[in-house]
Amino acid sequence: MRALVWHGKEDIRCDEVSDPEIQDDRDAIIKVTSCAICGSDLHLFHNLIPAMLPGDIVGHEMMGEVVEVGRGAAGALQKGDRIVVPFTIYCGECDQCRRGNFSVCERSNRNARIQENVFGHATAGLFGYTHLTGGYPGGQAEYVRVPFADRTHIKVPDSLSDEQVLFLGDILPTGWQAAVQCDIKPTDTVAVWGCGPVGQMAIRSAVLLGAKQVIAIDRLPERLGMAAAGGAVAINFDDESVIERLDELTGGKGPDACIDAVGMESHVGFAQPDTVYDRAKQMMMLENDRGHVLREMIYVCRPAGVISIPGVYSGLVDKIPFGLAMNKGLTFRMGQTHVNRWTEGLLKLIEDGLLDPSFVITHTASLEDGPEMYPLFRDKRDQCVKVVLKP
Ligand SMILES: NC(=O)c1ccc[n+]([C@@H]2O[C@H](COP(=O)([O-])OP(=O)(O)OC[C@H]3O[C@@H](n4cnc5c(N)ncnc54)[C@H](O)[C@@H]3O)[C@@H](O)[C@H]2O)c1
Ligand SMILES: [Zn+2]
Ligand SMILES: [Zn+2]
Repeated sequence: MRALVWHGKEDIRCDEVSDPEIQDDRDAIIKVTSCAICGSDLHLFHNLIPAMLPGDIVGHEMMGEVVEVGRGAAGALQKGDRIVVPFTIYCGECDQCRRGNFSVCERSNRNARIQENVFGHATAGLFGYTHLTGGYPGGQAEYVRVPFADRTHIKVPDSLSDEQVLFLGDILPTGWQAAVQCDIKPTDTVAVWGCGPVGQMAIRSAVLLGAKQVIAIDRLPERLGMAAAGGAVAINFDDESVIERLDELTGGKGPDACIDAVGMESHVGFAQPDTVYDRAKQMMMLENDRGHVLREMIYVCRPAGVISIPGVYSGLVDKIPFGLAMNKGLTFRMGQTHVNRWTEGLLKLIEDGLLDPSFVITHTASLEDGPEMYPLFRDKRDQCVKVVLKP
């Protein structure tokens, strides 16, 4: 089959590779009908997250048709079923899964030992996302093997298009979880840093969850326009001071909740001198992540407010003003998304016509064009916000 394969920094190719096979009772094989490129894939593209190996198949946002089912998954899935695959692989039986903490499933990471050494504990297996999280082949491919498939799936009705449901596997629940973590009250202002696909879903979610005011921060006019269309007040950080404008919009109180939908690759610009420092340290491997957004959020957030972090960080972040966070009594909530925890409610919102996540798609391409779509998405060329690939 054909698949997008990681060969090194900024080197993803569409290669011919072997078809996946059932390896375990609970596996299923999916023929992928649609998959997408996620902001998290860019961190791999830039080789900023360790433990990728040349030959690894990338991609963790995919859906398709079940073409083969292992005996252990046969009660839950049948050939022909149409499913979205959540990016977090989960067993459904361990202590964490029973609590709904699917992204920290205790069983699905087959490289748990390696990750324990680095993180202290293992987290769930993820598709196409480094050997620390299991080294499972990803779904930017014609076929993908889904481990623990009896649990790791989302069945979707034929009445909805691929474009309407594909994001149930990642960016939609990610934006939703980020907003839920803010415990939004009707009087609240929620500020969202980053208007990429995750930020867009967080903005829509905060509006649906009843925030009084949602504020969107980015520098790309097309993304800010999309955020404004979703009900947010836009701040362009290239044109104005984020802190001053947030103070103005909240009567000097600061946002009640701040969502970081940017993560480790905060834009590097001379208007934000700390990002230049971070970039230099990142290049010398003295720091893993660029913490500008975290610093800004901690500074501007209203005391006793919430800092919600769906943006991905990989390791050590420098110069975090922890004293400010402590004295202001801020609550930090974060993590890889517990995708299936949110499925039922989100699918219902889509079916009821209250939410159509397909608005975010700006580019559709073939799998062969995937290697060109990575830099296009990274550089936000051609007003690109989200790329869907059709294998
Ligand atoms: N927690 C999870 O489970 C999960 C799931 C999916 C994605 N993510 C992460 O979410 C983040 C966003 O993903 P995406 O697909 O939207 O990526 P993206 O790269 O398309 O979007 C990031 C946006 O942030 C903006 N930005 C950069 N610096 C900024 C700053 N200082 N202030 C405000 N905006 C700034 C960029 O212009 C861009 O529009 C990534 O870190 C990704 O890895 C996490
Ligand atoms: Zn993702
Ligand atoms: Zn589990």
